[in-house]
Amino acid sequence: MIERPRGTRDFLPAEMKRRRCVERKMRESVERWGYEEIKTPTFEHLDLFTLKSGEDIVDEIYSFEDKGRRKLALRPELTAPVIRFYVNELQNEPKPLRFYYFDDCFRYERPQKGRFREFWQFGIELIGGRRDLANFEMIALSVDILRNIGLGKFDLHVGDVSLLKKAVSSQRDDLDEEKERKIFRLMDKKDEEGLKTYLAEIGIDAENLSFLMSTLDPIEEAKRIFGDIDEIKQLSTLLDLLSAYEIYPKIDLSIARGLDYYTGIVFEIYAEEGLGAQRQICGGGEYDLIKLFGGREERSRGFAFGFDRIMEVLEIEKEEENMIMVISTDDCRREGIKVARKLRKKFKVELDVMGRSLKSQLSYANSSGIKKVVIVGRREVEKNFYTLKDMNNGEQISCGEEDLLEMIANL
Ligand code: HAM
Repeated sequence: MIERPRGTRDFLPAEMKRRRCVERKMRESVERWGYEEIKTPTFEHLDLFTLKSGEDIVDEIYSFEDKGRRKLALRPELTAPVIRFYVNELQNEPKPLRFYYFDDCFRYERPQKGRFREFWQFGIELIGGRRDLANFEMIALSVDILRNIGLGKFDLHVGDVSLLKKAVSSQRDDLDEEKERKIFRLMDKKDEEGLKTYLAEIGIDAENLSFLMSTLDPIEEAKRIFGDIDEIKQLSTLLDLLSAYEIYPKIDLSIARGLDYYTGIVFEIYAEEGLGAQRQICGGGEYDLIKLFGGREERSRGFAFGFDRIMEVLEIEKEEENMIMVISTDDCRREGIKVARKLRKKFKVELDVMGRSLKSQLSYANSSGIKKVVIVGRREVEKNFYTLKDMNNGEQISCGEEDLLEMIANL
């Protein structure tokens, strides 16, 4: 027996129904803000993902050589692919460009609850726009999506990686990229003890950076240290605009994000319950990839929801099954098929494929939760009428062809 690969999943119809229902609401949400769907390939040149993050990231990626010895990778995320597409073909389009996507991503990670090797992201990229207005749109839209799908309990954290980088690099002139990354990683994990130990090891006073992790008023703290610089003004304006949308995030200047391309405002959303360690259901921010990929400077930003994590925390009411079954026996199959065709213009209709008797088709309908049945037997065909049966209460009525659609709808 062949098992499915580690970190992947199979989905049964009931789960696919739940997923499609949420996907639909997410699509509706972003389309109401003027976003349009975009599609990029499942695999890309490996360079697309290593250009910014370095070769280390290869360990976390599904990469391979094709028969033409090209180094390729299954996409671990969609921001780099969308920006590659933009730089290749869309740079001259009028701004802003509002794109959204819903696709699977692949990461070679250790699977656990909420962490898979194939998972789905629902995300947007907003290319162009004045920083404050576009950042407002990015964050407000992410919250709008959660409100629309009915996920009420979440924490929104907003930070700014440029402040974080400024604070860290001001500590020592000779701080190399590796040390910086390690500091960011420890901060990102909120590992205060680990951070203290490491800072002491490389000779930095942890007190100088403690304002980044402050839970009191990080903006005031940052102002005290840096003065009223542009980054802090951006954050304040963003908070003001968000409050007009009744969104009140927590400022968290220690957000470093796992990916290396972020340059400004960043944000993360965590589920309040139900996920354990993998609580982060959304992440995003302002980034710099367009120039790196050889395009003309243009600010862009975006976010992606971990769709599978959303599905784990979201409770969805089961949709009522509204299938109709047309029941006929071998001598009346042709009539049954014709009726089913007519009904399918408006309804979901199932036909017997097992060759069962009339009685066992009825009992199949009963056990599968089918609520309405149209019987097309010899009696019906000869006398030119249909028998409609309400499976909830067993009541039967007859009707002619012209009334069928109306009668079955009202049954
Ligand atoms: P990310 O934070 O790496 O950002 O991924 C976004 C979301 O995908 C995470 O918040 C998490 O919910 C989900 N996720 C990540 N890895 C896994 C996994 N192994 N299994 C299940 N869910 C996972 C990005 O990918 C950026 N491209 C977001 C972005 C868009 N930034 C700007 N634009």
